[in-house]
Amino acid sequence: MQVIVLDNYDAISEQAARLVEKNIQENDQLVLGLATGATPLGLYKNLISGYNARGISYKNVKTINLDEYLGLEKNHPESYHTFMSEKLFQHIDIAMKNTFIPDGNPSSAEEECIRYEEIIDSIGPVNLQILGIGTNGHIGFNEPGTDPNMSTHVVELKTSTREDNAQFFQSLDEVPRHAITIGIQTILKSEQIIILASGKSKAKAVKRLLEQNVNRNFPASFLWKHDHVTLIVDREAYQFVQSIK
Ligand code: PGA
Repeated sequence: MQVIVLDNYDAISEQAARLVEKNIQENDQLVLGLATGATPLGLYKNLISGYNARGISYKNVKTINLDEYLGLEKNHPESYHTFMSEKLFQHIDIAMKNTFIPDGNPSSAEEECIRYEEIIDSIGPVNLQILGIGTNGHIGFNEPGTDPNMSTHVVELKTSTREDNAQFFQSLDEVPRHAITIGIQTILKSEQIIILASGKSKAKAVKRLLEQNVNRNFPASFLWKHDHVTLIVDREAYQFVQSIK
């Protein structure tokens, strides 16, 4: 794992955007794995500026999102469909038919998992996967205890995850209890992975990740099984690592 420590959130967002853009310039048909949450917002703002100011085109790029809440309609304000549309897709020249996110309101969640994994198999491998990290070490919605050999599946969200995400809903009660997520096995099929972490709320998770203790209770630790991962982290999120040096 390559570790890049930068001053602050703006710097990690910019660095991640430059890496994404470099990959698109090298391969205009890039298959890009995308994440939601607060962390990649700065990256997406930088990608939108790159599109507007420097003409980086997404015309032939395909995107595959990590996850979606179960039980939310696509147009629900907190669905990841809405998030991606508002924070990135509607501001760049990507074709919506080239963007993929699990359906959060399928007639059968199990069948939706199979369908989504088949999509990934047919258009993948993901060339570059963007990840955030949960305070509990989750990647995508692969929560602690997850089986690393799973492909796309239904998960029950941990209370800590629902509490972290409650800020976006009217109350904790409204945060969905289940989600569809691509699995650790699916994530590890990506050719290259960038994991972003910012702020002191992520400092414990970053320290734990860098301990290299690969285990199910800390799903991000499985990234040590991949040989092309870059952690881009700001000083606040790196602070506990520095203190043990
Ligand atoms: P966050 O979430 O970016 O909102 O902190 C990260 C994650 O849960 O993967």
